[in-house]
Amino acid sequence: MDKLIISGGPRLSGEIRISGAKNAALPILAATLLAEGPVKVGNIPHLHDITVTMELLGRMGVSLVVDEHMNIEVDCSTIREFFAPYELVRTMRASILVLGPMLSHFGRATVSLPGGCAIGSRPVDQHIEGLVKMGAEIETDGGYIHARAKRLKGVRLVLDLVTVTGTENLMMAATLAEGTTIIENAAREPEVVDLATCLNAMGASIFGAGTDTITIEGVRRLNGASYDVLPDRIESGTFLVAAALTGGRVKLKDALPGTMDAVLQKLREAGAEVTVGEDWIALDMHGRRPVAVNVKTSPYPAFPTDMQAQFTALNVISDGTAVISETVFENRFMHVHELRRMGASIRLEGNTAITSGVPVLKAAPVMATDLRASASLVLAGLVAEGETVVDRIYHIDRGYESIEEKLTKLGAEIRRVPS
Ligand code: EPU
Repeated sequence: MDKLIISGGPRLSGEIRISGAKNAALPILAATLLAEGPVKVGNIPHLHDITVTMELLGRMGVSLVVDEHMNIEVDCSTIREFFAPYELVRTMRASILVLGPMLSHFGRATVSLPGGCAIGSRPVDQHIEGLVKMGAEIETDGGYIHARAKRLKGVRLVLDLVTVTGTENLMMAATLAEGTTIIENAAREPEVVDLATCLNAMGASIFGAGTDTITIEGVRRLNGASYDVLPDRIESGTFLVAAALTGGRVKLKDALPGTMDAVLQKLREAGAEVTVGEDWIALDMHGRRPVAVNVKTSPYPAFPTDMQAQFTALNVISDGTAVISETVFENRFMHVHELRRMGASIRLEGNTAITSGVPVLKAAPVMATDLRASASLVLAGLVAEGETVVDRIYHIDRGYESIEEKLTKLGAEIRRVPS
């Protein structure tokens, strides 16, 4: 298992390219199960979660061709098995995204129940209830979801809560259903919009993605298509925070600032000068110490839970006290205990963390428990005095493409070593 070793201090400066969004690439790869012809997906990030998805599709018998630029062509006409095993689903919860498309296109699917994870219990009841309302017969037994259906039927679904992959699963299932499906209280995340745009390019008829009401008029078949995944707004936000907490400056190319309003606003509040173009974002901290900012996570377009840990790292070395409220997941403060070991002053009260900024952090061996928590520890390491060792970085490799290479390009002193 690899570790990252970071010598804190250097002020980051330079330009990097942002990769395609993990959380759009995963549902889009699942959506290829709906098509009658090959689907070519481009701008796919080179990540462990993508490898797991390819393995999952490959084991079902789906044909995959990957070129040297990580464009993946998927042809599901060779599918043999309609099965997502526990051993893969437990390593990547997003595997649940194959349920809707497989069931809708092939009439059956057996998918392991994901179970809990480091950030909360994360049930999938909304996915299952929605599919049942569309006419699926679903049994859960032995840790597996066994689903069968003839042709799903379009219905009006009102989700109990805003769920990103829940919305995506149901939207994908509805594309081949008979009649019209309306999803109310739908997630509005840019990744949901990207998936809808890709499905429409495959011949689906989806309206309203990006609002809380999505209408899907079922069609008989979907075709092959060619589609490029949108830029990763969470990777973008993470590098902007990296520059901000070192007092540095960075320009992100191939980014999408229009998907990041809440995060950019908080960075400006923290004292950063942020400028944007159509596909780039520049941040300059002019060597200043950031000012601590209050943050409350909520579904898009509000501040994303996937940026909460990184802003916790920013706040702990910023000037002043701030309150961070996590409202999306019940247990997403594991990084707090590790940041404290580096000298951070943080008080936890239920789903709220109250930070009092200290001028310096001290390096320590730290360990990550989930993807974004790992990122926050790397960020803290960039400003800590001494050598920070971040262990269990396989979490980082699930969601950040070449993080140490990109940070090195910006002047950070960071290296990967095998444990
Ligand atoms: N929830 C339920 N029932 C459901 C579905 C969700 O109670 O049927 C609850 C969850 O337990 C959670 C809340 O609803 O408390 C929101 O969860 P959501 O379903 O939106 O999360 P997700 O779809 O499993 C995606 C991202 C996460 C991101 C969340 C929130 C993907 C593959 N994953 O997860 O990304 O944090 O939305 O924005 O899109 C990450 O990239 O690090 C990551 C965890």
